[in-house]
Amino acid sequence: MPLIPMVQCLSEAERGGYGVGAFNVNNMEQIQGILQAAREVNSPVILQASRGALKYTNLVYLKHLVQAAIEENPDIPVVLHLDHGDSLETVKTVIELGFTSVMIDGSHYPFEENVAISKAVVDYAHDFGVSVEAELGTLGGIEEDVVGEVQLTDPDQAEEFVERTGCDSLAVAIGTSHGAYKFKAEPKLALDLIAEIYNRVRIPLVMHGSSSVPRELVDVINANGGKLGHSFGVPIESIQKGIANGVRKINVDTDIRLAMTAAVRETLFGDPAKFDPRDYLTPARAAVTKVVTERMRAFGSAGHAGDYEPMTLAEMKARYAKA
Ligand code: G3H
Ligand code: 13P
Ligand code: ZN
Repeated sequence: MPLIPMVQCLSEAERGGYGVGAFNVNNMEQIQGILQAAREVNSPVILQASRGALKYTNLVYLKHLVQAAIEENPDIPVVLHLDHGDSLETVKTVIELGFTSVMIDGSHYPFEENVAISKAVVDYAHDFGVSVEAELGTLGGIEEDVVGEVQLTDPDQAEEFVERTGCDSLAVAIGTSHGAYKFKAEPKLALDLIAEIYNRVRIPLVMHGSSSVPRELVDVINANGGKLGHSFGVPIESIQKGIANGVRKINVDTDIRLAMTAAVRETLFGDPAKFDPRDYLTPARAAVTKVVTERMRAFGSAGHAGDYEPMTLAEMKARYAKA
């Protein structure tokens, strides 16, 4: 199956009432581990690459690793997405590379500038049938010490933003943040905002910073020479509540990083004589599969890989042209 457009993946998720995990990838073991999970639970999947990932893989390795993954898994619908695109230039580069979806993150700009850059990306990408995710509001914990820096997504603005940009999905700020240190105590998330925004925009919503930071992984890392502070991630139940109210794409990177690091540390601490990378990357890859499988089940995408025939970018282009 060729890579599918994000629009198709998320509208099928909408139809089925589930969410699709978007997992960040940088190397072969992550891509293999994620696709193995998709195969095991028969789930569609979104692979996403940040600008850091593009640099790390020098573009061409990423392109061909993903190509290998879809060749090996013809029955799994896969979207290849640019995570946190910063400019039209980056968007052009990845569309050339074969990405079927891009994010333009103008959330740090004032509203009008965010509208302008997002609309420019929509106009460009839709001409290739490529889907566009934009972002409104800024990520960050809703905790006393960061109040003021964080701007939750405003439903009125969201409606105007979607109307004016024509984006296909919207990343919203509801109190999550990126990385392993999200909350010092029980998470506070503005989950009610999700339904309010969805009712106004009626397009799939995206939750960034959705790692759950499992305590057991942090404990394994620390028991094997690591030094990570304890913190709280996003509870799976909160994500499920989000999915019930319009979230269709859930971004997870940190949990995969933690799972791999725990496996590598455990292996090398368990046998300090090991030095063949396959000895520690094999368990690291299996750890990716384990965490991703759990997320696919929890988000409800498991079992949905065979629900639909893939749409091509040419078909999407024609659909955009008619709209
Ligand atoms: O949102 C950020 C993702 O976790 C990607 O992180 O820029 O370090 O690749 P990165
Ligand atoms: P986490 O750091 O919570 O995994 O979030 C990843 C993300 O939002 C990528 O865009
Ligand atoms: Zn993000």
